[in-house]
Parts: sequence; C-alpha cells; structure tokens
Amino acid sequence: MGKPRKEIEKIDTYKHGKSIKELQRELGISEVLKLASNENPLGISPRARAAFLKCVDELHLYPEVASYELVRKLSQVTGFPTEQIITGAGATELIEMLALTYLDPKSEMLTADITFIMYRISTTMMGAKNVLVPLKDYRYDMEAMARVVSDRTKIVFIANPNNPTGTIIHKKELDEFLDKVSDEVIVVMDEAYFDFVDDDEYPSALDYIRSGKNMVCLRTFSKNYGMAGLRVGYAIAPKGIIEQLYKVKKPFNVSRASQATAIAALDDEEFLRRSVELTHQEKEFLYQEYERLGLKHVPTQTNFIILDMADGDRANNLSQELLKKGVIARPMAGAWGAPHMMRISIGEHNQNVTLIRTLEGIL
Ligand SMILES: Cc1ncc(COP(=O)(O)O)c(C=O)c1O
Repeated sequence: MGKPRKEIEKIDTYKHGKSIKELQRELGISEVLKLASNENPLGISPRARAAFLKCVDELHLYPEVASYELVRKLSQVTGFPTEQIITGAGATELIEMLALTYLDPKSEMLTADITFIMYRISTTMMGAKNVLVPLKDYRYDMEAMARVVSDRTKIVFIANPNNPTGTIIHKKELDEFLDKVSDEVIVVMDEAYFDFVDDDEYPSALDYIRSGKNMVCLRTFSKNYGMAGLRVGYAIAPKGIIEQLYKVKKPFNVSRASQATAIAALDDEEFLRRSVELTHQEKEFLYQEYERLGLKHVPTQTNFIILDMADGDRANNLSQELLKKGVIARPMAGAWGAPHMMRISIGEHNQNVTLIRTLEGIL
C-alpha cells in the first residue's frame, strides 16, 4: 500500500457539506435548499454564461500556460502589471502554492483558530507548524497575533473578511500589526469576499501591495461572480513572489473555459452590482428574522451569516433537523473547530423565507 509522509498522515480529509444530490437521494425528495457553501444564489452572470458556451469548440486545445488573456484583463481591471498577477484553480490552489513555495518543517504559519481551513491543511502538508490565535469577539485578534510572530514565521494568513465568522479586520489594526512584524514575513490577505464588504474601515490589500508591502492578495471568482464550479482565483503580489509561485504552478491549472468565462464576468458590472445588492438587502432581512427567533448571529461583511448556538449539541441538532426538512446549512464542527457555530449562506429572498419558516417550525 505504501506509507504516506508523516505530514500527510496528520491531515483529516476535507469534508465538504452535503450536496443537493446527496440529500435528494437520502430523503427521496426533489426540493432541497442548499445554503452551505456561500455560492451565489443568482447563478452565473449572463455574459459569463454566454462566453462559456462560446468556447465549447476550443475545448480540445490546452489553455495558455500563464492564463495570458485573463491575466491581461486582470491587469487592466486592477491596474497592476501582469508580472504581479498569477491565476489558480480557485484561491484554494493559490493557498497551497504559497505553502509549497514558502513553508518547510522548520517554519511556522500564523493565522486564527477559527478561519478558512485550507490554510491549516496546506501548511500541515508541508510539515510547517500551525500557530493558531483565538478569535476575539469573532474577529482576528491582530494584537495577539503580532505577539506570537517569531523568526520562524514565514506566512501569515488573514481571511479578510473571515470565513466562517464574516467579520473583518480594520485598517488601523492591520497597520499596527504590520508595524510590529518584519518585512520578511509574507502577509496573505485572503479577500475571497471583498466585494460584499460595506464597512469603511476595510483595508484593501491592493493599496498595501501598491506601496511595496510584502503582501499577497488572494481573490476568487467563486462567490461574487457565481463561478464556484469553474475554479478560478488569482493572486496579486510583489513581482518577486509571483516569480516564485510560477515555479510551482501546474501548467494548465485554469481551464480554457474557466478563463474565457472569468474574462466575460469581469465585464459584467451589472451582475456584480446585483449580487452585492441582493446580499446587502437580504442580510438585513435575515438579521431581523434571526433576532425574532432568538438566534444569536454575528453581523457579516460576506454572503453568509454565522449563528452562535452556544453549545455543540444545539448546533448539531438544529443542522440535523434542517437537513431532515431539506435545508443544508454548514455546521462548523470537526476541522473547523467551532462546534457551537452554524454557517448559513445568504440566498435569494424566497430561499431565505423558506429557511426562516423551516427554522421557525423546528424551534
Ligand atoms: C476565505 C476563503 N478563501 C478562499 C476560499 C476558496 O475559494 P475558491 O477556491 O473557490 O476560489 C474560500 C471558499 O470558501 C474562502 O471562504
């Protein structure tokens, strides 16, 4: 059978939430509402859809290795030169590429204890130590994080906004953190949900990179553009970092169809506006309803809301009851390390109404 590396033995296989098809099979029902993976309830943008369909006749060709056209488009949109941009099969692959490039068993990765779990999985894979700092009031505790940076710290991962709590760190907190940390440390700002942010104190990683900081900004087309199924993400960073990342990039990691679709998505400003507007409107509706039902929730800067059920059994029971009624939410037990929490994506209005009615019935 062969024995895996000891680092791999330490990893628990990533468990995704239940899929719609799985639950349909289990319950023998056709109506399932999935609010577990922060997908875009509007689907994909019409322009992106058209571009996807148009590239069918080119699918026998490999994509260009460096995602030439998508990178050029991203360069136009962000104002960064192409040498500072690299694409990945979702932001997930870029996280793994960063770990592969910069971490070894002597190094440390620093992040929060309850945050996007791919940071930990990728780091563990490289044998590096995970230094996990507890969240404070559902937010990254930047002061505490600065205190544990050591000369072994190679990468700091900050999900801003954070998944699963939906909170952000403020510009002042980031500035103070950067003042205390050596320029040698790579600070990765994961902005998977940045389009949904409506807080003026939000620091854009791109501003810091523009001013020469040793920072990486990660973004994805999975959420805002409804392209989770196509797997496209990108990183913007100083040229030196991007050059290193290219060494570990798989040649054809972003498919031809994914690139063409992403380029068209970037032109569909109307779709992006609608996605963001819907999320903002519906989060206000859900806050009200959660309040009415006595469910403790954390105000969000993303397209999902975390419910804090105070204890693991309550959270688990509620998510099981929801499943029985055909609603998939995401309990945060297991590797997420927050058994008392349940994350529920923001859907379209009728979906949110169904969710609330179902919750009300159970409670
Ligand atoms: C904070 C954060 N970063 C990155 C990702 C990965 O996104 P993708 O690999 O789909 O681009 C997610 C997905 O849930 C996320 O929540």
